[in-house]
Amino acid sequence: PRVLVVGGGIAGLGAAQRLCHRAFPHLRVLEATGRAGGRIRSERKFGGVVEMGAHWIHGPSQGNPVFQLAVEYGLLGEKEMSEENQLVELGGHLDLPCVSYASSGRNVSLELVADMANLFYTLLDQAREFQHVVETPVPSVGEYIKREISRHMADWTENNETKKLKLAILNTHFNVECCVSGTHSMDLVALGPFGEYTMLPGLDCTFPGGYEGLTSNIVASLPKDILVFNKPVKTIHWNGSFREETLPGEMFPVMVECEDGDRFPAHHVILTVPLGFLKEHLDTFFQPPLPLEKAEAIRKMGFGTNNKIFLEFEEPFWEPDCKYMQVVWEGSSPLEDAAPEPKDTWVRKLIGFLVLPSFGSVYVLCGFIAGLESEFMETLSDEEVLQSLTQVLRRMTGNPQLPAPRSVLRSRWHSAPYTRGSYSYIAVGSTGDNIDLLAQPLPADSADAQLQILFAGEATHRMFYSTTHGALLSGRREADRLTSLWHTKAQPPQPEP
Ligand SMILES: Cc1cc2nc3c(=O)[nH]c(=O)nc-3n(C[C@H](O)[C@H](O)[C@H](O)COP(=O)(O)OP(=O)(O)OC[C@H]3O[C@@H](n4cnc5c(N)ncnc54)[C@H](O)[C@@H]3O)c2cc1C
Ligand SMILES: *[C@@H]1O[C@H](CO)[C@@H](O)[C@H](O)[C@H]1NC(C)=O
Ligand SMILES: *[C@@H]1O[C@H](CO)[C@@H](O)[C@H](O)[C@H]1NC(C)=O
Ligand SMILES: *[C@@H]1O[C@H](CO)[C@@H](O)[C@H](O)[C@H]1NC(C)=O
Repeated sequence: PRVLVVGGGIAGLGAAQRLCHRAFPHLRVLEATGRAGGRIRSERKFGGVVEMGAHWIHGPSQGNPVFQLAVEYGLLGEKEMSEENQLVELGGHLDLPCVSYASSGRNVSLELVADMANLFYTLLDQAREFQHVVETPVPSVGEYIKREISRHMADWTENNETKKLKLAILNTHFNVECCVSGTHSMDLVALGPFGEYTMLPGLDCTFPGGYEGLTSNIVASLPKDILVFNKPVKTIHWNGSFREETLPGEMFPVMVECEDGDRFPAHHVILTVPLGFLKEHLDTFFQPPLPLEKAEAIRKMGFGTNNKIFLEFEEPFWEPDCKYMQVVWEGSSPLEDAAPEPKDTWVRKLIGFLVLPSFGSVYVLCGFIAGLESEFMETLSDEEVLQSLTQVLRRMTGNPQLPAPRSVLRSRWHSAPYTRGSYSYIAVGSTGDNIDLLAQPLPADSADAQLQILFAGEATHRMFYSTTHGALLSGRREADRLTSLWHTKAQPPQPEP
């Protein structure tokens, strides 16, 4: 059969690798951009390598196919592969920062920081316990945690100033979770299905030589010329009968039309475009349109923005063993709605900075910022972002002479036309069933011309959505679905004796 994979991220590449392995000779991967990897994107910069997209292997242990491939390709260090690392279970809790700066320039007591981390993660863990509850007390994770915080506050005995600081620290934790979930607000993340996301054991680790080593190794394992770059797909025509001039007499149920006018008839299409792209082009991308239920699932599912801002310094202003600096925005509170004007307040969504391992004599911080403020940041110039962050750092550290970063580099996933955000989450008004519904192939009921469009990608994995391993598994899942169809066709079931 002729099989087309749309999208050359890890889901598409994973599907292609499986199918090549099983000898599907008429296979092509159509990729909109000039490179493979999608949201796995490492850039050589600052004399080292930085990740614009995926950063960690979440849960690097034997049950994680990304970990397995990374080991197979020799991309990890001794420590990352050690038994000890594989056994660690942090339950998605971040390590404590080495320093916590209040926005006006004083250090926040690390004891207070630890107390608030403890409280927040206790409540976050509780929020995962509503999977089998018929009716949740409130619709969202955000509302649930806020309600619990209000209850705890009744027992706080400190002075008003300390109470306010505690709320500001908790507010930073909400912003951290916005980054983790790729959402503007935890009020948008559905409480009931929150616990369906599954964490694998293992101490999250990075790729010393860049995450993209993973996808480039998969590409290298594929036959030459399978990947077609700069080939954005405009419309998928399905449920039809299309011909190709070079193959008279042959009929194809699907025809993929590209933006440049090229047309590719096919028996099967494995679609791996990001949910953000699907949401934006839902009305024109499928011909005939998707069944109502499926279109509705796509509209309801959550897909937001998380970005990184890298800052390069000549000299570190942090302690040598520091890995993470927290920023606490004084006056902020999760119990009050944030100011609606993002223009000058966008930096207040920044959670702090990760210290990257130094590249020789270059020192790099990686800031994280999610939500609408992050999308607004994308519209600014590098110069404006650098200036705002220099101001923040000077105020935070209480050092008005702090040298400005030498340069800035940031991701802009919301503006990326073939991504339109970072990753998916289960939004209020949606459930895990919507993920399964999205993952169902089309047409839903057809004796012949089955599996015309198969759906893969991060957003189609019910347990591991938003991750690279979820994406990889989803691609393999759809490849396997196709293989079993052709396996049954090749060996028609024998009549029972
Ligand atoms: C900032 C950020 C940080 C992240 N951090 C982590 C992390 O630490 N750990 C982790 O596990 N995951 C992380 N992720 C998520 C992870 O990167 C994704 O879940 C995963 O890479 C998605 O793979 P995919 O193949 O489903 O989609 P993609 O990688 O997005 O691939 C889809 C491909 O389809 C192409 N495409 C789109 N439209 C068309 C079209 N019309 N025609 C042809 N091609 C098209 C795109 O160009 C793209 O190459 C992060 C993501 C971001 C953005
Ligand atoms: C704040 O913490 C940093 C890092 O630990 C330290 O270098 C600095 O001296 C502290 N500043 C104050 C005012 O305590
Ligand atoms: C603390 O805050 C409460 C409630 O806002 C207020 O009633 C009280 O007067 C404040 N106490 C002090 C010492 O400022
Ligand atoms: C698919 O085609 C058949 C036959 O032309 C038609 O009856 C059916 O409604 C079509 N399905 C969709 C979803 O368009």
